[in-house]
Amino acid sequence: MYVCLCHSVTDTDIRRLVRTEGVCTMRELSRELGVATQCGKCGRCAREVLREAVDEV
Ligand code: FES
Repeated sequence: MYVCLCHSVTDTDIRRLVRTEGVCTMRELSRELGVATQCGKCGRCAREVLREAVDEV
């Protein structure tokens, strides 16, 4: 599913980044994929997906 429409980022993209790059904070996620850097509406959802992905690692 799309998490961030402004930057076309999916939950799969976020999970992959956590697995391959060790990303574990919203700051890193925003820097890598641009999540929550435009309209900001994806912030809450992105945070939840990130937390789940980090817990799975
Ligand atoms: Fe992510 Fe707009 S939906 S910044």
